Order: sequence, then structure tokens, then C-alpha cells
Amino acid sequence: MGKKWPSGFPGINWLSRQEEEAVTDVVRKGALFRYYGPQSPTHVNQLEEYACTFYGVRHALAVNSGTGALFTAMSALGIGPGTEVIIPAFMWVATVTAVIQNNAIPVLCEVDDSFNMDAGDLEKNITERTKLIAAVHMAGTPCDMDAIMRVAERYNIPVLEDCAQCNGGSFKGRKVGTFGKVGMYSLQINKNVTAGEGGLLVTDDERLYTRLVAAHDLGVPWKQGLPDETGEVYFWGQGRRMGELAGAVANVQLHKLPQVVAHMKASKQHIKDKLAKNKGFSFRRLNDPDGDTGPFLILTFDKESHAVRITQHLTNGGIENVFHLSEYGLHIYHNIRSLVEKVSLSPAGNPWSLSQNADSVFEYGKGACPTSDDLFERSVIITIPSRLTTEQERQMIQAIGDAVVDTVTN
Ligand SMILES: Cc1ncc(COP(=O)(O)O)c(C=O)c1O
Repeated sequence: MGKKWPSGFPGINWLSRQEEEAVTDVVRKGALFRYYGPQSPTHVNQLEEYACTFYGVRHALAVNSGTGALFTAMSALGIGPGTEVIIPAFMWVATVTAVIQNNAIPVLCEVDDSFNMDAGDLEKNITERTKLIAAVHMAGTPCDMDAIMRVAERYNIPVLEDCAQCNGGSFKGRKVGTFGKVGMYSLQINKNVTAGEGGLLVTDDERLYTRLVAAHDLGVPWKQGLPDETGEVYFWGQGRRMGELAGAVANVQLHKLPQVVAHMKASKQHIKDKLAKNKGFSFRRLNDPDGDTGPFLILTFDKESHAVRITQHLTNGGIENVFHLSEYGLHIYHNIRSLVEKVSLSPAGNPWSLSQNADSVFEYGKGACPTSDDLFERSVIITIPSRLTTEQERQMIQAIGDAVVDTVTN
């Protein structure tokens, strides 16, 4: 390929003096801790306030990572022994980890040709022990939240929306993360906007918010800069506060999210429009094309061998971050060895051996989700960097088009 491409780290390509100035402000004031310090800290608070406006929610809580956000949310929701959490076959290991760390049992659910949770299969997996549905908006694109919420409401089960990979996305005009009981976003370096590390939790539920604040830190909520030791909420916290340095960067980046998404979406649409004339593959079905955030393209072929060869072809041709979906690491359930082998959290064998979990016995090896397996085998995922030039888009179109013709047609 020609000129070096922008990195596949979307928010990084948009870093500017604004982030530098925000960080400098924190250092100059020595106000590194979010709740108090030599001068009043402001950045994490501002981030949370802006997040409420941006997502259109009553409460937002910044935490130290997306994984931390998941742990915090599940703990605050009371996920523990004797409960099952439904998770799609295409996700990231962190979502499963949060279930296991809370001593609950993960239950896999098929994805459909949108590569997001299949609401029909979700319903089939519900038991009397199902206490949470983890809807993961994967690879930049929203789930069908109408269908998922219909099932959740029918059985009165809360939904946690994992929006780590779809920050700024929406479904039918409403931001992802605001349909369920609680939504989370990651600010890790691969995500649409970033502070290197960080996470956000959003909810409209006042009581849950208080529990989230308590769970993320001390087990009791903070009130006016002090731990509130006398209120109704007291249990166990996790030490997952966001620091002011991360908050300063995250706040600036969150303000840039619409631009980042608009650029990636436009590149993706351009690439798709030009590739549409090629035969031999289909594009991922989008539940709401307007709500897509654009960082990935998924192509599905008739045969696995085509997907494997296209991946090699593109990688050899210099396109970065192309994967045969079956081999997309810890995003695919059957690649998570600790899950497949049911590795325990401690020598006691928990969560698998807990008596409360005795009725929740599931298998997680390849074959557990055959419809998803088939889709993963025949598909390729390609990163769309967040600041491609028109010339780079053209190169990408050419490279993918040539790979398809060589592999499928010849
Ligand atoms: C779907 C999904 N959930 C959760 C996470 C965890 O976020 P973090 O890396 O910020 O802990 C990630 C990202 O890594 C992710 O892709």
C-alpha cells in the first residue's frame, strides 16, 4: 500500500491540543483525584455531566475501564450465585469475565446475520434463574433493541447494554446504552473515543445509580466529597474510580465522538457502495444503518475457504487488522479457553461448583452456538480506520475488490 494509513485506534487519530491542555490543567492544579485534592477537581464531574446530556440520561458514572464498568454494574444489580446471565456468542471476554467474577453462570445465545444477539434464541435460553440479559452492540453496530426489550419486558429481566464497541451508536434515533436498565461504554484505546483506559455507566434509575457509585468504589456512595456511611446503601466496593487525568482526556474526546463516528461511517458507506457490484459475498445486515458507528466492515462468503483466503490476501496486501471471524480471538466464545474448560475463580471450584449453580450446567465449546459458528466461519472482519483520506478509501476498495475477485471468482 502507499502512504501509511491512520491507525485502527479511532479516537487516537483525533487527539489534539485540547486533550493536552486538559491534562496540563490537571497537573498544574495537582488535582489528580476525582473526589478532593489541593484544588477542586473538575474533569471527571464535567465528563459525567456531559455524558448525561450526550446520551440523554439522568445519571452517568465514570469508572476505570469498560471491564470495571461491567463488574460494577453486575455487582450493583445483585448478580451472584444461582443466577444466569445471557450473553451473545460474539462479544468480548470481559462480559463473560464479569459474570464469572460475580459467581454467576454465563449462558450463550446465538447471533443472527446482524452479528448481534438473536432475540429469538435469547427467549429460548431464559430460565427461572435468568437475572440479566447482556446485550452487546458488537463491532460498531446496534442490536435490535425493539426485539431484545420485548423479550426482556415479557420476562421482566433487566438488560445491561454493553456499548464498548458502539459508543455514539443509536437504534431508531435513540442512543445505545439507554434502552436497558444500565448501559456501559469503554474508553480503552481501541474504542471510538478514548482516554487510554476508562469506562462509563449510564442509567435513569436513581437507586441503581447510588448502588453503582457504591459498588465502583467503597461499598457506600460518595456524597459531597465524603463517603456516605449512614445511608441505606452499604455493601462491598471494588476500587474502580476514574482519575482526573483520564477524565480530562475522556471529556474532550467524548465531545469529539460525533465527528469521529461521522467520518468512519462515511468511509464505510463509500467503501460499501463501491464494493456492492462485486459478487460472492454479502455485507453484514445492519439493524439500523443510521445508528451504525462505522469502525468495522464484516463480509460473509458462501464458503469458509473463501473467508480464509480473503483474510490472507488482504493481510499480505498490507491491509491491517483483518481477521477470519472464527479466529478473532477472545471475541468468539469458543476461543475463550477459560470458558470452554470452565476454569474456576478459586480452588473451591466457584462459580461452577457452587450448590446454587447446580442446575445451571452449560457447554461452551465450538458447536454450542451452531448458527453463529457457521457465520463466523464464513466471515471476515475488516477495521475501517477513523480518518481515511479519499485516496486511502480508494486503495481499500481496490484491495478488497481484487481479493474478492481473485478468491471467489477465480
Ligand atoms: C464488547 C466489549 N465489552 C467490554 C470491553 C471491556 O472494555 P475495557 O477494555 O475498557 O475494559 C470491551 C473492550 O475491550 C469490549 O469490546
